[in-house]
Amino acid sequence: MSTRYPFAVIKEKLHAQRGSVADFAIGGRRIPLADELDQWIHANPGLALKAASPDDMASFREAAANYLRVEYKARVTEDQIVPVPSGRVGMSAFIACLLAPGEAVVVTEPGYPAFARMASHRHADVLQVMLDPEKGFAPDLDSLSDAERQRLRVIALNYPNNPTGAVISAETRAVIHAASAHTGAVIFNDAVYGPLTYEENSSCLLTNASGQMQGDDLVELHSLTKLYPLGPQSGSFLVGSAGSMRDIATYSEFAWAPMSALQVRATSWCLADRDGRQKIRNFYRQQLAELRDVLVRLGFEPYPTPSGIYALCRVPESIGGSRVASAAEAATVLMEKFSVAVVPFDVAGYSYLRFCSMFLPEDMQRLLAKAKNIIA
Ligand SMILES: Cc1ncc(COP(=O)(O)O)c(C=O)c1O
Repeated sequence: MSTRYPFAVIKEKLHAQRGSVADFAIGGRRIPLADELDQWIHANPGLALKAASPDDMASFREAAANYLRVEYKARVTEDQIVPVPSGRVGMSAFIACLLAPGEAVVVTEPGYPAFARMASHRHADVLQVMLDPEKGFAPDLDSLSDAERQRLRVIALNYPNNPTGAVISAETRAVIHAASAHTGAVIFNDAVYGPLTYEENSSCLLTNASGQMQGDDLVELHSLTKLYPLGPQSGSFLVGSAGSMRDIATYSEFAWAPMSALQVRATSWCLADRDGRQKIRNFYRQQLAELRDVLVRLGFEPYPTPSGIYALCRVPESIGGSRVASAAEAATVLMEKFSVAVVPFDVAGYSYLRFCSMFLPEDMQRLLAKAKNIIA
């Protein structure tokens, strides 16, 4: 397991070529924090040196339960919530508590790679299931054999999805809940892009489009990291049945140091910031519209983006006159010939490039300046 975390590698490359590359991989743009939060953080830096108190943690859980009610019409109690210092820590805690070596876990591809990697380190049997572009990127659960279904312990999903932008359809929801009921597998959903849904209300798996709760065979990860630039001061949380959350909360006492009072209070503030979320959603909607427009002018064919912060395109046959056989190759040509950074995804039979909508205006200017030559 020597392959590195791809985003760390990309960040290192961008750092090494500081300023000379148009960054459409991670994106250099940050949405400014609301004045009130910004001023409060700068007036209270000492809270970063203090562990959150039991009252801070209780207020966080209350803010998280309110957030789920406001955003998704979900009704959960505070004992169903476990605060975690980041999304990836939440995944690793879930994996430590709910997956045993040898048990099977479904993950989807193309996908954000952290869950699959951590499950492999746990010696779980990781089953890659394709998100089918011909079917709105629904997971192809039919590809699982009967033996795999028998060992299935977890179905790990990411809705709204990175990098495809797909939101869950009613049909996929029904298929997944049926698979979970049939096999006894727990559903894990990474919902960090939940509030960034553009064509309908915010979307997660806890509730359906009418706000009905979807059963208790589910643990969901929520986070506002993508909306508020709090860096390492941004917190996340898991929500699930009181029993599984008690196990994860107990594990957390052993597994990581307490979160800081600053992190817990700043994240609680963000969880209550309903109007701010609307503005941030609008910001991303505009950024994505501009990005998609430019990509089409360049000759790419972006998939629809009903959610998230990325535009995904199939890899064209050639870039800048060079034939490209994979996404990795296409990304290398874009970087080396055009100084444009993007994220490649190569999965069985499909190659994609992901463009991030958090681009700086000057990076967009650079991309446009090269537009004529990119897809010949
Ligand atoms: C789908 C998805 N889940 C989780 C994360 C990671 O969250 P965190 O940085 O809080 O660990 C990311 C980061 O890009 C992501 O795209």
